[in-house]
Amino acid sequence: MDYNEAYKKLEKYGQLHVLKYYDELTKEEQDTLLKQIEDTDMEVLLNAAHETDSKGKITPLSAMTLSEIETKKDDFMGAGIAAVKAGKVGAVLLAGGMGTRLGSDAPKGVYNIGLTKEVYIFERLIENLMDVVKLTDTWIHLFVMTSDKNHEATTAFFKEKNYFGYKPEYVTFFMQEMAPATDYNGKVYMESKNKISTSPNGNGGWFLSMMKWGVVDKIREAGIEWLNVFAVDNVLQRIADPCFVGATILTDSDVGAKVVCKNAPDEKIGVICLEDGKPSIVEYYELTDEMMNDKDENGNPSYSYGVILNYLFREKALEDIVAKKLPLHIVEKKIPYMNEKGELIKPEEPNGYKYEQLVLDMIHELDSCLPYEVRRNYEFAPIKNKTGVDSVESARQLCKENGIEL
Ligand code: UTP
Repeated sequence: MDYNEAYKKLEKYGQLHVLKYYDELTKEEQDTLLKQIEDTDMEVLLNAAHETDSKGKITPLSAMTLSEIETKKDDFMGAGIAAVKAGKVGAVLLAGGMGTRLGSDAPKGVYNIGLTKEVYIFERLIENLMDVVKLTDTWIHLFVMTSDKNHEATTAFFKEKNYFGYKPEYVTFFMQEMAPATDYNGKVYMESKNKISTSPNGNGGWFLSMMKWGVVDKIREAGIEWLNVFAVDNVLQRIADPCFVGATILTDSDVGAKVVCKNAPDEKIGVICLEDGKPSIVEYYELTDEMMNDKDENGNPSYSYGVILNYLFREKALEDIVAKKLPLHIVEKKIPYMNEKGELIKPEEPNGYKYEQLVLDMIHELDSCLPYEVRRNYEFAPIKNKTGVDSVESARQLCKENGIEL
């Protein structure tokens, strides 16, 4: 892209300030900037402006409860173990996020939660996946999504730690796309005079990024039919859990979603429901008081199951929906930016917006979803913050309860 084309593109999106320092730059810096302008998807800025929060008609969706699962456990385990042994299950670790709330510049997975020894978040996840590898005597393909901000650091860390004992040929890294980050008026921030401030575009584009990186071809070649997508930050995460896999397969669902019983009506967790008769998830910040307080005929909360970002997708179903545009979420974040003096500022408080697509919106595109209840103290220890709720502290406590040495 040359200067004139870049100018036209920026003009269209009201972002001409990106070229403010162009004349001061070296030829090489100018080229870097022009390339970035070319590569950056600015359409999100327009789409975001038109975003409406119009949801369809929301009604409750019940989950397969712990006691129901217990009665069918043998069948589920049998089907799940058979699927894993046949190589039909792959795992996708979403690790492209910035983890700004945790406040470390390193990838979240390299965070050490150990107290008497080193216990890295990535290590905990690999250990849990290894449980299934051992049980089934089968290596499971693990696909790790990174972003431009943490790819090098993540891949180097896995290498340095010898993949925590996992077989390297079963680990594949791929990168997600980036999106521009803006101030509250929708003007993109600059990180330096020749660099637009960008951030990962949310966890919803993972399958599309897998396609772009040719990872989906590998999946087809390997005969993988189910993809267990999970978040980096839950250190009790059960991955490729045979019982969950079996339940999703035997109920002929397009997707299984692990859910926990909410601990309070206003817990900050997405709630599973039906939207216009199709499975859907309402994010906690979209939850109305009416939904929060609604009761079923037995006086129990109607919307009591929250998602923990652990889904098992039928791969074929993903191929059918990949072309569909997911909604954009505008998220308030702390965005590093260059000030008028040309200094890089790392703000302490949110100062603008990131534009994200979310994996939870994929659920609504599918026809059938199995909400599958898990014991929260056994499977859900999210690390979002340093202290307090969903923090390193609370996760350590839960690890301790589960006999995990830290
Ligand atoms: P979060 O919503 O907690 O976002 O991600 P985050 O960026 O990691 O953390 P904060 O909000 O800045 O503190 C949930 C999961 O989705 C992944 C994260 O790595 C985590 O596993 N994710 C998030 C991505 O892979 N890409 C993204 O663009 C965003």
